[in-house]
Amino acid sequence: MKDRTNNIEDDLIVALRVQKAKKRDKERNIARIDQETMEILDIKTGDIIALVGKKESAGIAWPSYPHDSGLGIVRISSRLIKNIGTSIDETIRIRKVKTHTAQNIVLAPIGVKLKSNPRFETFVQRKLNNFPVTIGDLLLISIGISREITFKVINLKPNGVCTIKPRTILKISDDIIEDNEGGADLVTYEEIGGLKEEIMEIREIIELPSKIPSLSSRFEIKLPRGILLYGPSGCGKSLLLRAISNESEAFSISINGPEIMRKFYGESEKKLRELFKKAENNSPAIIFIDNIDVIAPKREEKTGDVEKRVVAQLISLIDGSYSRGEVIVIGITNKIESLEPALLSPGRFDRIIEINLPEENSRAEIFRIHTRSMPLEKSVSIKELAKNTPNFSGADITGVCKEALIFALRRVLPQIELDSEEIDSKLLKQIEITPNDFDQGLKKISKNVKLRQKLMEYNKTKENNNKKI
Ligand SMILES: Nc1ncnc2c1ncn2[C@@H]1O[C@H](COP(=O)(O)OP(=O)(O)OP(=O)(O)O)[C@@H](O)[C@H]1O
Ligand SMILES: [Mg+2]
Repeated sequence: MKDRTNNIEDDLIVALRVQKAKKRDKERNIARIDQETMEILDIKTGDIIALVGKKESAGIAWPSYPHDSGLGIVRISSRLIKNIGTSIDETIRIRKVKTHTAQNIVLAPIGVKLKSNPRFETFVQRKLNNFPVTIGDLLLISIGISREITFKVINLKPNGVCTIKPRTILKISDDIIEDNEGGADLVTYEEIGGLKEEIMEIREIIELPSKIPSLSSRFEIKLPRGILLYGPSGCGKSLLLRAISNESEAFSISINGPEIMRKFYGESEKKLRELFKKAENNSPAIIFIDNIDVIAPKREEKTGDVEKRVVAQLISLIDGSYSRGEVIVIGITNKIESLEPALLSPGRFDRIIEINLPEENSRAEIFRIHTRSMPLEKSVSIKELAKNTPNFSGADITGVCKEALIFALRRVLPQIELDSEEIDSKLLKQIEITPNDFDQGLKKISKNVKLRQKLMEYNKTKENNNKKI
């Protein structure tokens, strides 16, 4: 332990390796450290500590799990990992820290427009009571319309680590901060309706190697390394990706097909090599490739040279990464028919999981998730809604809930702006969403569902006719 401690300007510092928090700690601002480290730092459970990576932030010291003791690690949430600019397995420094009561704090919402008012500010302040913060931190807060918002601390007085108390003056800025780094993204499995078996299957593949590390080497079993998720649009594939990435304790990298092909055009292969290298260096790791059909379309006559080279590069990276390290690749697509068939050869994506339109029970779950904090009138029946929405995707159901809410809001405020991201907590208190509001929402979204079905049928007939020719 000695070699991990330092004494700079009377501050005792311990260097620890970062590991991801277990699921139950995800939303808590705690850092789990072992007893020995607490003694060295002269702190006890509940004390506030500074965590220093590329940036500095603060957390609450909490005892480590017995099996982590003596390993020189600290377990922190993905939000804290982001806040201190580090990643799993990197070493950060930890020290005891003096905190001040925050006098003033200004928070800016990430990626959403908010109409703030003093009541909403009080609500946020109450949620953050006793929370240690530093400038630049991302903070996650559950708010009215069945959702969470991430805020960034853009102003804080005094400097350093502060705790938010009832006498702190908290303001919410009108400015929106662009969500460039997925800062607002803290989706968990609880946000997904249905898909239980699919989630189980994926988790098994991801978690098996870490649960029984000796299994594969002892019995020379080849565990599955590649999973392909496919299915119609709006059924939760990307949502699932975000949840797995947040919930898994493995290092994860997300690649988006269109981004690799457009943003890095001409450098797509290099970018892919870099990302795979990064994953291997941080293994066990998961690489997610959303919209993989864009990077790996069928290599037909009409495919350009660049596209062909990128597909070939991806295939060789997948083959290489499996043989070298504990890397799992999860590809996601809604166009499996246009995917390069070589990707489906054994040893590449050997688990292919369909994410289909939700059944009635799953639809009820999705309705429940998206109305969780909506003020529903007693007579609204989720069961009934689920029954009346065959062929609706999860995204359609989200649409129905948003439309119903807008209908209800119109009663209170006739000129409501139709931007559904606009949230006003005061208004929410005045409304109740009725079965009729849902009927209106359902009617509106039904049109899209019907149109989509017609289009799908048309495409199918066209495909069949082409086959006949
Ligand atoms: N199973 C689900 N549970 C809860 N919400 C869902 C579910 N499926 C979809 N949604 C809602 O619909 C939105 C869109 O879903 P998502 O982006 O995951 O679809 P997708 O399958 O990736 O579609 P695409 O193939 O077009 O990319 C989600 O952000 C969520 O609000
Ligand atoms: Mg998607």
